[in-house]
Amino acid sequence: MTELSTYVRACALSDLPDEGVIGVDVSGTPVAIVRAEGEVFALLDVCSHEEVALSEGEVYDHTIECWLHGSCFDLRTGDPTGLPATRPVPTFPVKIEGDDVLVSLGTGMSGREDQ
Ligand code: FES
Repeated sequence: MTELSTYVRACALSDLPDEGVIGVDVSGTPVAIVRAEGEVFALLDVCSHEEVALSEGEVYDHTIECWLHGSCFDLRTGDPTGLPATRPVPTFPVKIEGDDVLVSLGTGMSGREDQ
């Protein structure tokens, strides 16, 4: 019942391009930090189809598009909006404090033992 809500600094808000993405390492986990329509989102920087970085892709309409085969993932849920990916990408809660973008890895990813 313990809520893991430890927020870790991921990047500076000013590092994020408008309607864009950067890939960062948060405590050893690759995370894509996305700014879209005035909001900031964080999701695992690994496509659920094959192991490529989503942060290399394009951001539009609250989605990020995988550059390799073109699946788009909803930034709010991590759900793919089109094939070939069928599984969601984990998303992480984000907090903004001043110019700091903080991400909590405590939810969304709890290891890979269930795969
Ligand atoms: S690797 Fe991302 S859609 Fe195929």
